[in-house]
Amino acid sequence: SFRKQIPKGLKRLPGPRGYPLIGNVLELGSNPHLTLTQMSQTYGDVMQIQIGTRPVLVLSGLDTIKQALVKQGEDFMGRPDLYSFRHIADGQSLTFSTDSGEVWRARRKLAQNALKTFSVSPSPNSSSTCLLEEHVSKEADYLVRKFLQLMEEKKRFDPYRYMVVSVANVICAICFGKRYDHDDQELLSIVNVTDQFEVVASSGNAVDFIPVLQYLPNSTMKKFMEFNKRFLRLLQDIVKEHYESFEKDNIRDITDSLIEQSQQNKVEANANIQLPKEKIVNLINDLFGAGFDTVTTALSWSLMYLVTYPDIQKKIQEELDQTIGRERRPRLSDRPMVPYTEAFILEMFRHSSFLPFTIPHCTTRDTVLNGYYIPKDLCVFVNQWQVNHDEKLWKEPSKFDPERFLHAGGTEVNKADGEKVLVFGLGKRRCIGETIARWEVFLFLTTLLQQLEFSVSNGKKVDMTPLYGLLMKHKRCEHFQVKQRFPIQSSE
Ligand code: HEM
Repeated sequence: SFRKQIPKGLKRLPGPRGYPLIGNVLELGSNPHLTLTQMSQTYGDVMQIQIGTRPVLVLSGLDTIKQALVKQGEDFMGRPDLYSFRHIADGQSLTFSTDSGEVWRARRKLAQNALKTFSVSPSPNSSSTCLLEEHVSKEADYLVRKFLQLMEEKKRFDPYRYMVVSVANVICAICFGKRYDHDDQELLSIVNVTDQFEVVASSGNAVDFIPVLQYLPNSTMKKFMEFNKRFLRLLQDIVKEHYESFEKDNIRDITDSLIEQSQQNKVEANANIQLPKEKIVNLINDLFGAGFDTVTTALSWSLMYLVTYPDIQKKIQEELDQTIGRERRPRLSDRPMVPYTEAFILEMFRHSSFLPFTIPHCTTRDTVLNGYYIPKDLCVFVNQWQVNHDEKLWKEPSKFDPERFLHAGGTEVNKADGEKVLVFGLGKRRCIGETIARWEVFLFLTTLLQQLEFSVSNGKKVDMTPLYGLLMKHKRCEHFQVKQRFPIQSSE
């Protein structure tokens, strides 16, 4: 199909010539987001590369990506059939499986509604705005105390290791009504080794494109499969417990709510679709899986920038002191009052672009984009990193500068600029956790920074080099330190 005749009047996709069998694998190298950004300068926003024997469409440029994922959303909403994705959640994942038809649509709607009910909807009892605020405030307070305790006992620490449990506890509270101790080995054996997942699930992993590699010994792939099994087993145990204690008049969390929906056996949005029970309840895998590593990585990059740019940290703290003060904890409703903090978060997303590509897409039918003929079933990489570092959109894109998002003399975030930052994807496959994620990052960060000043121990430097993966992380740093900004008040 690669060499197929293209319809008259349409252009053939441009791109570099590939070697036989391996295609452009060697050129891709270890940082495909950088090489593909560079290549797009030669071949344009719509180009084709070849990984192994398989052609891949690579999209760059915000306008082109919007055209494909939003305006021609139906054409580009599929997921490719990739070897590694078949091992995620037994091939049943909402996020990674090849389904993009009616069943996928109904499941996505269910997952969205369940998330909303147990996170951002108004809180029935307490003084909090919503359940999410309640969970995050509690975990962030706990994290502050944990960091201070670590300082006393060890004088320095790796914050990632503790943040990941706190963030996991938030999504656990929403999904399972449960929280884990910071030393829980079962949870740690999953949340602390997600790189075993992220590296294999990254865009352009050779094993997905060169089939012979599937038959060769591969310790990374083996770890990936074991990770997925462990993950599935943990969640299956939790779901089993929920079935055993389920009461239809007391829906405690998302798992209960999904069990209830699977028993009613109807989906509001579309009564024609009969979803198998498992395909409803196992949505929990997608929500939990997507819910902790992403937000932890965002917070972790935030801390890296804060210790690298102490002046920026100070500025955020001054803003928090002036608007929220020290008497009460930050709340979600404070967001519009702290533009500099918002700008910092946007700049962290833009500059790190820690989700360099969306999850790969795939065309659902023959189509045309910018005059190029694009066949059905073509694997598509969407280069978010390129958009966030495009010189046509950003002045000095490699500079870390929150102020680029401010206008009106620094008193407001420029909304239009904020929307140019591409990290949650766009269109039909756009992240369903975006609101939750942005709120969590805001509340964790402001609660930490209200009370703590972060630094690294004397003479140490943090290594900001991103390590390529579905999510890009930085090397862990054991040398973080915190100082209490003022005597801690007991939380209300
Ligand atoms: C999909 C980013 C947090 C649930 C995605 C995609 C991206 C993304 C780039 C793929 C879009 C595409 O394929 O075009 C992020 C970032 C997060 C975050 C940067 C945090 C900073 C969350 C959270 C949840 C979540 C907290 C749920 C609790 C999902 C799900 C999908 C998804 C279920 C798959 C949607 C589908 O395939 O239809 N996210 N996400 N994400 N995200 Fe997120």
